[in-house]
Amino acid sequence: MTLPVQRTRTRTCARAAALGLTAALALGLAGMPAAHAGTERHHRAATLDDLAQKTGRYYGSAVDNPELADTAYADLLGTEFGATTPGNAMKWESTEPQRGVFDFTAGDEIVNYARANGLKLRGHTLLWHNQLPGWLTSGTWTPDELRSILKNHITTEVKHFKGKVFAWDVANEIMNEDGTYRESIFYKTLGPGYIADALRWAHAADPKVKLYLNDYNVEAIGPKSDAYYTLIKQLKADRVPIDGFGLQGHLALQYGFPSGLKENLQRFAALRVDVAFTELDIRMNLPSDTAKLTQQADWYRQVTDACLAVKRCVGITVWGYSDRHSWIPAVFPGEGAALPWDENLAHKPAYDAIHDALAAAAAPPHGKNG
Ligand code: G3I
Repeated sequence: MTLPVQRTRTRTCARAAALGLTAALALGLAGMPAAHAGTERHHRAATLDDLAQKTGRYYGSAVDNPELADTAYADLLGTEFGATTPGNAMKWESTEPQRGVFDFTAGDEIVNYARANGLKLRGHTLLWHNQLPGWLTSGTWTPDELRSILKNHITTEVKHFKGKVFAWDVANEIMNEDGTYRESIFYKTLGPGYIADALRWAHAADPKVKLYLNDYNVEAIGPKSDAYYTLIKQLKADRVPIDGFGLQGHLALQYGFPSGLKENLQRFAALRVDVAFTELDIRMNLPSDTAKLTQQADWYRQVTDACLAVKRCVGITVWGYSDRHSWIPAVFPGEGAALPWDENLAHKPAYDAIHDALAAAAAPPHGKNG
């Protein structure tokens, strides 16, 4: 598989220099004595993605199209991270607003941003029960009609972004909490076989792209992750193209850390699929305080360590990186402060915890090179 060129330290420094003082401040140099700032611009600390790359992984952040106009935010994302995922641009309601009429404008905008900043791109998502266009949800479809609609959507979108995304969340959130299939329009009309069909159609449209199933509340070992384990095992046995399992990682301090996280990653890896944290954030009841931010930092460290402990855990993506742009307050009123950077794009303890965990794994073994 050909991925976008990996960023090098030289390129990162050149880019930091090119960004100039405003962006340098956003890069975290604000607290430095002025006399040191210019030097630091060329010799700044490793980014999260620099460190992740040394372990063979990527560190990414989602981005939504309106956020590209927030230049400080977009510049920092493009510098600190090695991968991005569109928050909304590649969903069905955006890409096929009328039946058979495709609009990839928003997705292409993210592709261009990713290319300009040397970011790998995850495609999200071909098939979801949410954010479907009205023409699809309000229609009454025979199985043949819906199968044809789904095949055309997947084929057209995957072909359009062929060579531009390295992975697709093919099917998103297809299971209920108890491990039964979600009663989506696709399941109700087509039965569970739609998942294997979707994977096969995506593979036919781009044989090189990595194909994922993706969901939330699957970090712990339990009925929902068990259902994915059983499904992926069966898909593998049936030689259906499936490359990865995405754990969204929408965690909340008040619900406890997912038990068996590392073992869960390991059992999927043992099925010969990649695993990745695809939408990580760790929210809390507001207001935040030192104790909560310390606990949050510990959780981010634990998630990072779990990924680093499993060879097939290929990367981590946070669902936006700053509390300035986060989906949480609108969906969970009274909760938030979920990301490693605050509203002012300053590091929180979580950032240092992630950085330390990655740096420890990226460091050469003791005594080597030394
Ligand atoms: O596009 C309309 C705009 O025209 C309108 O003016 C505006 C007014 O509220 O709404 C806009 O739509 C919003 C859309 O994001 C695009 O910005 C929706 O209201 C809003 O509900 C929607 O939220 C997205 C959410 O998925 C929908 O379920 C979030 O941005 C997005 O981050 C979130 O992402 C999901 C993943 O895809 C799957 N996993 C869970 C994750 C968090 O919910």
